[in-house]
Amino acid sequence: MKTGLAALALLLLTGGAAPAAAADDLLARGAYLTAAAGCVSCHTDKENDGTPFAGGHAIESPYGIFYTPNITPDSETGIGGWTDDEFLAALREGIAPDGSHYYPAFPYPSYAGMTRDDALAIKAYLDSLEPVRQPNKPNELRWFVPGRSAMGLWKALNSPWDYAEPAAGLERGAYLVRHLGHCGECHTPRGAGGRLKLSQELAGSPKTASSEGAPAIDNSPDGLADWALSDIEFYLELGMRPDGDFSSGGMAAVIEDNTSQLTPADRQAIARYLKNLR
Ligand code: HEC
Ligand code: HEC
Repeated sequence: MKTGLAALALLLLTGGAAPAAAADDLLARGAYLTAAAGCVSCHTDKENDGTPFAGGHAIESPYGIFYTPNITPDSETGIGGWTDDEFLAALREGIAPDGSHYYPAFPYPSYAGMTRDDALAIKAYLDSLEPVRQPNKPNELRWFVPGRSAMGLWKALNSPWDYAEPAAGLERGAYLVRHLGHCGECHTPRGAGGRLKLSQELAGSPKTASSEGAPAIDNSPDGLADWALSDIEFYLELGMRPDGDFSSGGMAAVIEDNTSQLTPADRQAIARYLKNLR
């Protein structure tokens, strides 16, 4: 009888604690995935000491300047009150709640491969942040850039982005690189209309007047052929190349906000995936 009561008490206690623990787990998982997806790098106006995720960061492109929106849970100026479906449609399909299409300066073609569970964990984490009231700045796009309504056509012509199946054992690395980390958005060359040339995954993109370009990070001689796995892991953690130089430009933010925050196992999964490319 006594042990029965103790067991019941234990059951009630753990039963009562489980939902709170599960909620904490979800937020911790969401925070981790938000880092692995690099959301904060684009959605924070670091240049002007902006609050994380409150938007206003200027992204320069051949099409003009995009100002990222506020993705804190403020209900008027942010994404407070969005349903799960609205969030999933934005992140994975580039569709806004009003049905219009986002510009692919928001890397949803990469995020399209994110699992529903992971995307919703990110939403749970964003929803847990302090709402920040900060109205979005309109984009300043060049005259020839079509409006958002026409971006549906761009998507029809350019999606889906079909990657080849990753080799056995490299699935986690592929997921982190292709989808969460969207490394190809900078490191993969683009063809007409801005579509990524997936057959040349991570083969580097040239520097242009409006883009800093990014080096090859596949296992080719121009890329990481001379780097040991541990060199890549070290670089992704601390930003130092084997020759002692430190990363700069867009990659410095990727390391600070994303790859340095990952577990050593995930950095290794990324490094192994890169070393296996070509
Ligand atoms: C490379 C920069 C970049 C990254 C990384 C990025 N975004 Fe964005 N995001 C944008 C831009 C630019 C827009 C607006 C596009 C437009 O104007 O059509 C946007 C729009 C959004 C919107 C729509 C907001 C609204 O008010 O309509 C949401 C939600 C969003 N992003 C969430 C995220 C999340 C979550 C992540 C990480 C998983 C993320 N973004 C990562 C650039 C980025
Ligand atoms: C915003 C654009 C951008 C994104 C996203 C990005 N990179 Fe980079 N990356 C760069 C640039 C630019 C450089 C060159 C940095 C420099 O010269 O210091 C670079 C350099 C590197 C290097 C060093 C290569 C060399 O030869 O010096 C590695 C490794 C690397 N990136 C891996 C990654 C991985 C893995 C991801 C995804 C998790 C990623 N990058 C995402 C822009 C980006």
